[in-house]
Amino acid sequence: MLKGKILRVYPVCVFLMMINLFLINDSWKFNISFNPYGCFKHGPPPIVTDGFESKNLLKEGPFKFLPDFKNPCFYDNESRLIKSLRCLPYFFIAGFPKCGSTDLWKRLSYHPEIVTLHPKESSFFDGRRFHLDHAWTFEDFIDTFQKDAEVIRKNSTYNKSETLLFHKLITGEASVNTAAMNDLWYKLPENSGLKEPRYTNANYLRHLIPQVRLIFIMRDPTERLWSEYVYSARANCFQASSEDFHELMLESISRFQNCLQNYSEKSCVYNFTIDTFKGRLRTGLYVMHIMDWLRVFPRDQVLFIRTEEYEIDIPYTLKRIFKFLDIGSPPDDIFKQMVECERQNVQTFKGNISTKTKILLDNFYKPYNYRLSNLLGEYSMQKNN
Ligand SMILES: *[C@@H]1O[C@H](CO)[C@@H](O)[C@H](O)[C@H]1NC(C)=O
Ligand SMILES: *[C@@H]1O[C@H](CO)[C@@H](O)[C@H](O)[C@H]1NC(C)=O
Ligand SMILES: *[C@@H]1O[C@H](CO)[C@@H](O)[C@H](O)[C@H]1NC(C)=O
Ligand SMILES: *[C@@H]1O[C@H](CO)[C@@H](O)[C@H](O)[C@H]1NC(C)=O
Ligand SMILES: *[C@@H]1O[C@H](CO)[C@@H](O)[C@H](O)[C@H]1NC(C)=O
Ligand SMILES: *[C@@H]1O[C@H](CO)[C@@H](O)[C@H](O)[C@H]1NC(C)=O
Repeated sequence: MLKGKILRVYPVCVFLMMINLFLINDSWKFNISFNPYGCFKHGPPPIVTDGFESKNLLKEGPFKFLPDFKNPCFYDNESRLIKSLRCLPYFFIAGFPKCGSTDLWKRLSYHPEIVTLHPKESSFFDGRRFHLDHAWTFEDFIDTFQKDAEVIRKNSTYNKSETLLFHKLITGEASVNTAAMNDLWYKLPENSGLKEPRYTNANYLRHLIPQVRLIFIMRDPTERLWSEYVYSARANCFQASSEDFHELMLESISRFQNCLQNYSEKSCVYNFTIDTFKGRLRTGLYVMHIMDWLRVFPRDQVLFIRTEEYEIDIPYTLKRIFKFLDIGSPPDDIFKQMVECERQNVQTFKGNISTKTKILLDNFYKPYNYRLSNLLGEYSMQKNN
């Protein structure tokens, strides 16, 4: 029984452990040790030496993507003895955490034109590349798609009335912290000396995969945050309670408001010292992050989905995604499987957020939700208006 529990919790813990390891600021970083339940226990903060070596992603590429591949693939001749096909993701589910991306990813993985032989999240842009001890290089990131590349390479068809083989399969990524997590932006050479980031994950992705299609799935930010807190409690072995959550949110909101007194709004949105590992208030300021993505990506490369609408009508949302990704509708039996597959990552915690905290957070997020709905036109996070 215990073994089963560890196996279930383990991936969650590895993910949270990764988040923790690249946060360098002492107030945020905490000691992690495994306990028998596969969670972490928090000890005093370790002494952190600032060993961070920035990897300049802007020096990578541009890649010569092959015209007979739908997916962004290229031949890597320089760094390897044998010519090998390298593929990058055609699409990214770039945000947001605790909004249903795991469920969506699972369903998409049934699609015959989507190859998903790698884990859902590499967390390369938001984390792995900053890892203190063994930071990933961009090559490491590309390596994660090597099995997918093989399948994409082997699978080709002749276009109608053409003599050239065309490789139509695609692959994707669903590192949902890509959208909002740029915690070490100020360490990057491109942002050196700045008071707020000029380069965020959006810029790196645009540089590396200019045509990448981006999916943002967003949920009521108050609900999102409560869900993140409950999830974090399970992974980090602290007792979730609505009172603890309330205190935490009062603290985070007050830090944010204090920050605004002396720093720009953008600077505070990107300042991770506002939050704790238990839950990140800043993530739900969707509009602030989306603005940065829309600054560098054309609108038609971006798809917005509301979790609330997704849950009500999964078939409709999936069809929207097929259209957006320019892939065919799968055969009926597969589509049925996609629609009917078991819901993923469902919250099992029984407690509820207290009404006072809900009001507190709803009020905090309200102006940002409003700005988001203005930015996206038809899009609205407000449930009742
Ligand atoms: C093959 O057809 C696809 C669309 O089905 C098109 O996007 C692609 O450019 C074509 N490839 C070639 C090599 O003509
Ligand atoms: C890599 O090698 C292949 C075949 O050997 C060649 O067609 C291609 O142009 C080369 N690519 C680069 C970037 O040199
Ligand atoms: C190519 O992919 C399609 C769809 O996934 C599959 O039906 C077909 O068997 C594949 N062909 C090869 C040669 O891998
Ligand atoms: C903001 O700056 C003022 C003046 O420099 C200082 O007195 C105050 O403590 C600062 N507030 C915060 C929250 O840093
Ligand atoms: C984040 O905010 C703290 C004060 O709350 C400030 O000391 C720190 O310099 C800020 N970090 C950045 C990168 O602006
Ligand atoms: C939480 O809320 C749901 C629905 O609003 C309710 O059915 C449930 O009893 C509540 N749970 C607790 C522990 O209060």
